[in-house]
Amino acid sequence: MKKLFSLIMIVALLAVFVPVVSAAPPAQGQEYIVTAGDWLSKVADKYLGNPLAWPAVMQATNQKNMEDSSFAKINNADLIEPGWKLWIPSTEECEAFLAIYDPSKPELCFAKGPAGQLVVASWWTAGGEAEGLNGMFDIYASKYPDVEIVNATVAGGAGFVFRPVLKTRLIAGDPPDTFQLHAGLEVEGYDPETYLDPLDDIYASEGLEEIFPSDLLTLLEYKGHYWGVPVNIHRSNVLWYDKSIFADAGLTPPTNWDEFWAVADALKAQGVVPLAMGTSGGWEAPHVFEDVLAGTCGAEKYSGLWTGAVPWTDPCVTEALENFKKMLTYVNTDHPALSWDGGGHYLIDNKGAMMIMGDWTNGWFQAEGYTDYGWAPPPGTKGIFVGLSDSFSLPKEAPNRDNAIAWAKVCGSKEGQEAFNPKKGSICARTDCDPALFNEYLQSAMADWASDAIVASVVHGAAAIESWVTDFKDAIVLFVTSGDVAGTQAALQQACVDAEVCQ
Ligand code: GAL
Repeated sequence: MKKLFSLIMIVALLAVFVPVVSAAPPAQGQEYIVTAGDWLSKVADKYLGNPLAWPAVMQATNQKNMEDSSFAKINNADLIEPGWKLWIPSTEECEAFLAIYDPSKPELCFAKGPAGQLVVASWWTAGGEAEGLNGMFDIYASKYPDVEIVNATVAGGAGFVFRPVLKTRLIAGDPPDTFQLHAGLEVEGYDPETYLDPLDDIYASEGLEEIFPSDLLTLLEYKGHYWGVPVNIHRSNVLWYDKSIFADAGLTPPTNWDEFWAVADALKAQGVVPLAMGTSGGWEAPHVFEDVLAGTCGAEKYSGLWTGAVPWTDPCVTEALENFKKMLTYVNTDHPALSWDGGGHYLIDNKGAMMIMGDWTNGWFQAEGYTDYGWAPPPGTKGIFVGLSDSFSLPKEAPNRDNAIAWAKVCGSKEGQEAFNPKKGSICARTDCDPALFNEYLQSAMADWASDAIVASVVHGAAAIESWVTDFKDAIVLFVTSGDVAGTQAALQQACVDAEVCQ
């Protein structure tokens, strides 16, 4: 009986333990050489039994790289190359990492340098923007080699995807070390007095008030403080055109509305898309409209619309909506499926003749190797510079505060701006950059900035508080499909009332 009981116990115990015992033993840490056709989640699946464990492989490899440069440095999980040496963590290490991993914090996948990290958050992922940022990283890395730079991007032009993600991090007390912030009223949306540190001391120590133009300084000051160090000045109102298409058709870039319609008709008759657009991000059509507004109302009235001096019921707003509605009849029909740069391919591919977009397009064209382009102010905007600027901020709870302060100084410096702007396609925020470093377009932008009437871009955070920008953007996105001029004008007036600028 006793024997039988023991036998039953043994069988029962085996039933419980055999599956565990026969499962693969927990993996030990090991090297792995990437072969063609590998991707990180495939490697994670094969060695750790979980494709979602790829961040653990990325982090472990980056940590190894810090000690031994024969291991790869993985900056982008989607880009690993044959021959790279990875480190697969042990099952135990992997589980410990995954327990703390948060996908909204890309810095977790990177190693910590001897002097910590510098987590820079931006939406610069397109060609030109990404290269410009890397140029500034190179300067920082040469000065602070012990800091591990983490490029924490959230893709999506103009930052409409980025801002909600960033706000969540700020509110959670878990911010990056610094983040991209448009100069102007956009900062209001981040509640700077709660979440950011003023940068006035950096302005003083670096002499920035003496070197930035006064128009820009005015834009940067909010509630008596500076909350970001600007790296550039961008122009919203540029009409890019394909030189060969224009030359073949015997056309010259239009300077006013009548010429624009005539040129667009001639191009249409040739089977070319007159005006290329990509509107998938929801901000591109509003961007074009802000330029149409400036080109229809003129600089003074355009500015007055944002300060309350001119009501949105003004006839020039009606006219601007009519112009924009007509303009949309000349646009590629697939625009809702394309991003701003996707739309730009119409020019590169010689299928589209013109495009209205900010001058980051110049950086992007360069990155794409496209040189057959010319530029002109969009109709009615000769002598008007619709401006904006990108700056970097300092969150109160930046985990690597000293590194972030050093970054802000690089952002404001001559060498930082000279490394960044020629690639980014913007002009320096500083007034002492060497013009010889900049291409012909940017030299023309410098001259225009010095002589034109400067007005603030709304879509890129300069002219209005964020909630107003959103209302403006939504009204114009709706207008693209509805074409309802009166209804849209009423919505725009209401948006101004809601922003407490109009009565
Ligand atoms: C703007 C930003 C530019 C450029 C553009 C497209 O808002 O100021 O630097 O990145 O978006 O993403």
